[in-house]
This record gives sequence, structure tokens and C-alpha cells, in this order.
Amino acid sequence: MAAEPVVYGASERPPRGDYRRANADYTCAQDFAAYTAQDHDTYRRLYERQSALLPGLASEAFIAALPALGVKDRIPRFEEINERLYKATRWEIVAVPGLIPEVPFFTLLANRKFPVTDWIRTPEEFDYVVEPDIFHDLFGHVPLLFNPVFADYVQRYGQGGLKAHGLGACEMLSRLYWYTIEFGLIRERSGLRAYGAGILSSSGELPYSVQSPEPQRLPLQLERTMRTRYKIDTYQQTYFVIDSFEQLFDLTAADFTPIYERLRGQPEFAANAAEATEPAMA
Ligand code: PHE
Ligand code: FE
Repeated sequence: MAAEPVVYGASERPPRGDYRRANADYTCAQDFAAYTAQDHDTYRRLYERQSALLPGLASEAFIAALPALGVKDRIPRFEEINERLYKATRWEIVAVPGLIPEVPFFTLLANRKFPVTDWIRTPEEFDYVVEPDIFHDLFGHVPLLFNPVFADYVQRYGQGGLKAHGLGACEMLSRLYWYTIEFGLIRERSGLRAYGAGILSSSGELPYSVQSPEPQRLPLQLERTMRTRYKIDTYQQTYFVIDSFEQLFDLTAADFTPIYERLRGQPEFAANAAEATEPAMA
């Protein structure tokens, strides 16, 4: 979740990264020399476990693009990935020390630069890390930036974020980020699949989100999604499902200004609210 808006990462803990390394735009150099043999091994083991889980659970586009990340047995250098990524969709990844504030985050996305945290979790955090680390950011987010439609969606989200910031609407918009880019599901020909990075980088939530009978799964509907709160420390209780990245792109093309106005007066849905504005999907 790299550098998501601090809105959702807000907590009492100080962030782990060293922000003194960062430039004014919050980017920094990937501190490759700082990685230990154990760090590289942690990445290798996470990659191995997670890639084995993907068939039948991850979206086709994600599985197709994953090899573009390159090396699997150590932490990749961002430049290696950028050579391929820039050619594919004119996106680049940039290193950051961790979560960054909204405006610099949106600004990077609007300029087709995706912030990737450069440090990796400790072995004790193998299954769960509180802040997004390089494994979440690279493995979870970067493969779909090779998909042209999804890549354009992320840029437009950044542009929309800058506008939302001016309108005081970041909380509503960030829910869309959460329920699509982080925890989105997609209905493919072969069945339900995950495309959200928070799911794809989690060994527990990947099978849970796609197969468990527990959570509710609703068709993505803009206003319902932007009214739904979310939990950052449990599996999701509600997932929103799209039919295609084109649908996602088209659904979010409108100017949100009047939507924000309308939503301000409306009640929110709890993360697990069973009340649906449309029938729940099987
Ligand atoms: N179209 C939205 C707006 O005008 C911005 C947006 C684009 C939001 C893509 C999310 C995804 O505010
Ligand atoms: Fe993320």
C-alpha cells in the first residue's frame, strides 16, 4: 500500500522509514546497499509463497504481468523494473521511505510515478506487516501497472486525488482506492479473481477474498463504495467486484465534484454493513 494517503495509515506509531533521506517530493534513492542477505532471502521466500498461490485466485492480467518484475530470488533494483515498465505503459516506480502524505502521493500518481517503499519486513513479520513494505508495493501493485487500462486508471486516480484534496473529499475518494486498487475483485470468464494489491500480497486474504463464504461481495457501485468505511487490520468484510478494468475506468470517468456534494449529506456504511443498495452477489 506504499505510499497510500496517510489518511488510512494513520496510527500512533511513528513510521518505520527514515524520512530524512527523502527529497521534497518524498522520493528517495532505493537504498540497495542497505539490504542484508536476510532481506533478500525474505523477499525470495515471500515471492515464492505468494506466486504459488496465484493460479485460480489472481486476475489473469496480474499473472501475465508478474514475470515483468524480473528477479525472484532477491530484491530487484527499481531501475531494472523501470526499463520494462516505462516501455510498456510509460509508468515508473520511485523509491519512498514509507507512507507519504496525500498531496505528494497524488502528485506522483498523476505524473505516472508509483511510490514504492524500499525497506522490507523482518522475518518475524513474514505473514503480516503493519505498514506497507517493498514486497507489498512491488509484488502487489506493480504488475498491473503493466496493464494499459489499469495504468491509466491509477494516473486518473492521482489527478482526481488532487482535486478531491481541494474539495475536502479525500476520505471518500480514498475508499475507492481501498476497495479497488487495494482490495478489488474482478469477475473473469473463469470465475472470481483478485486484482487488489492488499489481497495479492497477502497469503491469507488471497484465498479468503475469493473463496470464503464469510465476506459479502457487491458489484462495484461508485457511491456505495465511497460511503463504505474500511478496516485496515482485518480481512475485508465487504469486497466490491468489477467486470473489467475498462468498466472501472469508465465508471470513474465522470467529474466527482457533484457526487461528493451529494454524498456529504448521506450516512456511511460500516465495513460489514449487510445493507446493500443492490443485491449481494453469490
Ligand atoms: N473522475 C474523478 C473526478 O473527477 C477522478 C477519478 C478518476 C477518481 C479515476 C478515481 C479514479 O474526481
Ligand atoms: Fe498498497
